[in-house]
Amino acid sequence: NKLDKKFPKDFLWGGATAANQFEGGYNEGGKGLSIADVLTAGSHTVPRRITPTIEDGMYYPNHEAVDFYHRYKEDIKLLAEMGFKAFRMSIAWSRIFPNGDDPEPNEEGLKFYDNVFAELKKYNIEPIVTISHYETPLNLAIKYNGWVNRNLVDFYVRYCDVIFRRYKDIVKYWLTFNEINALTMPWGTFMAGAIMPNGNGEISNNETDNEQIRYQALHHQFIASAKAVKLGHEINKDFKIGCMIAYMCFYPLTCNPDDVLLAQQKDNLHNFLCSDVQVRGEYPGFAKRYFEEKNININMQENDEQILKEGKVDFYTFSYYMSNCVSADQNEEKIGGNISLGIKNPYLKASDWGWQIDPKGLRWTLNNIYYRYQIPIMVVENGLGAIDKVETDGTINDDYRIDYLREHIKQMKEAILDGVDLIGYTTWGCIDLVSAGTGEMKKRYGFIYVDRDDEGRGTLNRMKKKSFYWYKKVIETNGEDL
Ligand code: BG6
Repeated sequence: NKLDKKFPKDFLWGGATAANQFEGGYNEGGKGLSIADVLTAGSHTVPRRITPTIEDGMYYPNHEAVDFYHRYKEDIKLLAEMGFKAFRMSIAWSRIFPNGDDPEPNEEGLKFYDNVFAELKKYNIEPIVTISHYETPLNLAIKYNGWVNRNLVDFYVRYCDVIFRRYKDIVKYWLTFNEINALTMPWGTFMAGAIMPNGNGEISNNETDNEQIRYQALHHQFIASAKAVKLGHEINKDFKIGCMIAYMCFYPLTCNPDDVLLAQQKDNLHNFLCSDVQVRGEYPGFAKRYFEEKNININMQENDEQILKEGKVDFYTFSYYMSNCVSADQNEEKIGGNISLGIKNPYLKASDWGWQIDPKGLRWTLNNIYYRYQIPIMVVENGLGAIDKVETDGTINDDYRIDYLREHIKQMKEAILDGVDLIGYTTWGCIDLVSAGTGEMKKRYGFIYVDRDDEGRGTLNRMKKKSFYWYKKVIETNGEDL
């Protein structure tokens, strides 16, 4: 049966993490502070706060996170037990360059990742490394105002040079910036752009938002990404270097052509602007029009166009959690807590955090991306943030998570049938970790439970959830037994 298409035999099944949400050890081994280290805890309704320095008596959930820094052997062993083929992780930039602008890298930080990669290798788990995942060294934010300043390009490229050379024989897959398109949205100003707020310190503070600044910072990241791609290929021609987009799937709320057009415009601006630059090597026409209409002037240097052309990525990766509706009618009520999520879709259910669950949207998205670029694709984040209950017998019956993932995997299979070149799937937060958006622990994504609460209490012990055994079986059967 021709339609009995399966996942490719070397499909990269696995899970994903980010250093600042996972490692802890925030001031150990010579690590400097990153922007994530000055974020307080928040919730679905209360935004996290950015404090310019670490305040006494304030709880910062990313400082210890879930302590992968000391437990990486135990953790990787558990991932291997599930049969992981790939593990997406980030390198904490401030572990390698504590201040970002230091002349020399920190050997102890490099040594830590030598050990992590060696451990992964032991189990034949392929690392997929995000170079910058919402964790720019804090000094670069304070001293230079983050990515608004072009000097960050050089600091980033120097950092890439060090890690590319050090790990050139052990890491093949690299992602230059996590969710680079976050800078097209106000909440990305600090986390993605490392741009200091001058308002009340709330992460989603729109009052001080300034598109001119955000798009200039984004341009610098495009240049940094392109330079990194070029450099990486010079260091090892077999490197596969990808972009990473937070794909926001937008549906028109109605068939009113105004809604349909708006959905397309949002798709272009928030999803495709970045990947057009990173995959095709130039700004698309709609971006130029948008900049013109909004009076945004990107300061470009003479050879920037050339740099972008020479630094096209090898593959496309994205995070996918939900879909949202958009309407040209300003009176439609918006949903969402700490980030604005568009308009409610009456056909979908949402998570406890208001994220609308839409497996078919993943198939739609995969097709939408593939027919634009025709390069290999990986889904590098997907999953359900939910509250888990540990039963008195120690079991954790997270059937809701299994349902969520099963339905999304089914749709990935459909997309493969549609012709999409999908090469990997790493679910978000395969071991419970700190939420980026809210700083909570109780918004859990993992197959492995971590005993830690929102106030930082708990043993940090790891426990296997029901989904652990389920995902193990999924990997074992290459996605056949769901
Ligand atoms: C993505 C980020 O936006 O979504 C992750 O790359 C983040 O860092 C994930 O953790 C889930 O979001 P949250 O807010 O539930 O942690």
